[in-house]
Amino acid sequence: MSKLFSPIQIGGLHLKNRLVAAPMCQYSAVDGVIQPWHWQHLGVLAISGVSVVIVEATGVVPEGRISPGDTGLWDDRQEAAFARLIKDIASYSDTPVGIQLAHAGRKASTHRPWQDKGGPLAPGDGAWTTYAPSPIPFNDGWHTPAALDQAGMDRLVEAFVAAAQRADRAGFALAELHGAHGYLISEFLSPIANHRTDDYGGSLENRMRFPLRIAEAVRAVWPRSKALGMRLNGSDWVEGGITPEETAEVSARLQGLGLDYVHISSGANAARAVMPWKEPGYQVGFAETVKHRCPDLPVIAVGMIAGAHQAEAILDEGKADMIALARALLDDPRWPHHAAETLEAGADAASPWPVQYQRAAGAAWPGRALRDFG
Ligand SMILES: Cc1cc2nc3c(=O)[nH]c(=O)nc-3n(C[C@H](O)[C@H](O)[C@H](O)COP(=O)(O)O)c2cc1C
Repeated sequence: MSKLFSPIQIGGLHLKNRLVAAPMCQYSAVDGVIQPWHWQHLGVLAISGVSVVIVEATGVVPEGRISPGDTGLWDDRQEAAFARLIKDIASYSDTPVGIQLAHAGRKASTHRPWQDKGGPLAPGDGAWTTYAPSPIPFNDGWHTPAALDQAGMDRLVEAFVAAAQRADRAGFALAELHGAHGYLISEFLSPIANHRTDDYGGSLENRMRFPLRIAEAVRAVWPRSKALGMRLNGSDWVEGGITPEETAEVSARLQGLGLDYVHISSGANAARAVMPWKEPGYQVGFAETVKHRCPDLPVIAVGMIAGAHQAEAILDEGKADMIALARALLDDPRWPHHAAETLEAGADAASPWPVQYQRAAGAAWPGRALRDFG
């Protein structure tokens, strides 16, 4: 009996299996509004056989976008386009769609990754003021952010709430607050980016105050019939960064506030950090630390999980409850279906193949036998 293909309850969401399509920025929106590319990208993921698809980091305010191509959810056009997308997906797939709500903090106002290596925008390129816990740039030559004051923080809590309300109305079934990768929430949590001397800096209790305020405020408006979680860094991969034990403590506090899951990633908070990102399961140990501290809180593991048996073992060994895939799904959007076959989990373990594609499913196409997947 495959654990990877067994159902799980996350808050009010009943999910068919343990596979999640991880949020992936496409840098292809216009004024924060999704475009035809997003229909194909998310449509493909919705028929991949995962049990839930999470839409990319989406800015809750314009200045909270990483690049001008990021999706946003602060106005009616953005909300209406997402609502259309979700309705369209529901016409051919029963896979629920979630969204990652984000503020890029000091790493906002950059080029798309394929332009100038994603470096900071110049004033002539439309650069905007960035905001962070402390006025410390991410790296040499990056924008020096303005330190958020109390009124700025209050406004951002409201912006997260307003974006969550829009996400609910648009039909998203899950909301994930982006607290990882050196963006705003992650910056508050990490001593690397947070040098504040007020109630929001210093001790872990202080560093998590603003992230917990956001979580609590969004929890108050996000329906219990859906799922609400946060993505967190288990490590910044540099001396003096956040530790797995601190992340486990933050997770316990989020659970106390009624969040339904945490999603444990790492890195991207310090330009000098060296991440072992080619190592299989390089972040799974952080998920395990959180799972140990919060046995009843669903934990998603992510990062270089590429094999069916590898994913199954992570769950079997109790290191996490779900597995998120990013690059594996871009490489092979039929990964979950192939994994179900490899694990002999049964034909319907992943969401069924679309009828239109059934001539390529399972034993129907002899070429499948030539493919080595495990
Ligand atoms: C194209 C691309 C875009 C990404 N965008 C996001 C994002 O919007 N939010 C986020 O939290 N992580 C983002 N990530 C990180 C992935 O969600 C994932 O954590 C990471 O790629 C490791 O998982 P993998 O080894 O399965 O790719 C992105 C990754 C890729 C490849």
